[in-house]
Amino acid sequence: MTETYVHGYHPRENERLQDQAGTLVELLHSDTSYPSGSLVLEAGCGVGAQTVTLAQRSPAARFTSIDVSADSVAEAKRVTDAAGLTNVRFQQADIFALPFAPESFDHVFVCFVLEHLTRPVEALAILNGLLRPGGTMTVIEGDHGSTYFHPDSVSAQMAIQCQVELQRLAGGNALIGRQVYPLMVEAGLDAVHVSPRMVYVDSSRPDLVDGFTRKTFTAMIEGVRQSAIEAGITEPGAFDAGVRDLYRTAETDGVFCYTFFKGVGEKGRKPA
Ligand SMILES: C[S@@+](CC[C@H](N)C(=O)[O-])C[C@H]1O[C@@H](n2cnc3c(N)ncnc32)[C@H](O)[C@@H]1O
Repeated sequence: MTETYVHGYHPRENERLQDQAGTLVELLHSDTSYPSGSLVLEAGCGVGAQTVTLAQRSPAARFTSIDVSADSVAEAKRVTDAAGLTNVRFQQADIFALPFAPESFDHVFVCFVLEHLTRPVEALAILNGLLRPGGTMTVIEGDHGSTYFHPDSVSAQMAIQCQVELQRLAGGNALIGRQVYPLMVEAGLDAVHVSPRMVYVDSSRPDLVDGFTRKTFTAMIEGVRQSAIEAGITEPGAFDAGVRDLYRTAETDGVFCYTFFKGVGEKGRKPA
């Protein structure tokens, strides 16, 4: 792998990605389905958290899901086998060295991957080259700058900033959601449309309190504790206070907001 993956590949991170996908299925995927017989490339499938939803929602499409991590690909295969899915094949591969012919897919799907890359436009341009003319590309990214909550807390914002800074040091960008439109346009996609998808959580939505505020977002921030301390960007006490305040937003009077950005673009047809 050419980039450092800030979240790591631990079992707890796999669980977090599955929690995140399960909680966000409607919000992120309700308008994604692929026609019968279409060939779809999922780039950076990780442990298959989105793969299961994609393949279940488009049972007659055929998916090729790749990831640079062989362990993740093996876990993704285990997860889709357990779900009884037969329309996905997996392959270990790097987006920057893909073993596929130009224009060999009808659709490409990329979720939570660009944020980890130093060259996101180049990655999208490579994937665009694999699309047949008229095919579509779907890109989903979060943006940690879109996080706000009640009770507000400077400590919590600083703990989030540790994650943003670590990702920047690793060559990525945790604020990339706001750039989905310009990145897709720069990569050569046509008719790009981006829709913000806001997660709003209060205690009348206990599934989101647990699945998103606690187990997705706060767990992700908590997961960088050691790296942030080792990198010298925080002190243990300050970081722990921030995480405590993030968990505090999951209490009865707490509120938590976060926005994802979903872009869909088209590979232009060549003039006749
Ligand atoms: C946050 S995970 C997202 C996984 C999955 N798309 C999801 O939404 O659950 C990012 C994934 O991108 C993969 N990745 C990072 N750089 C890559 C590259 N150059 N080629 C292929 N996969 C890559 C990582 O191995 C990791 O599994």
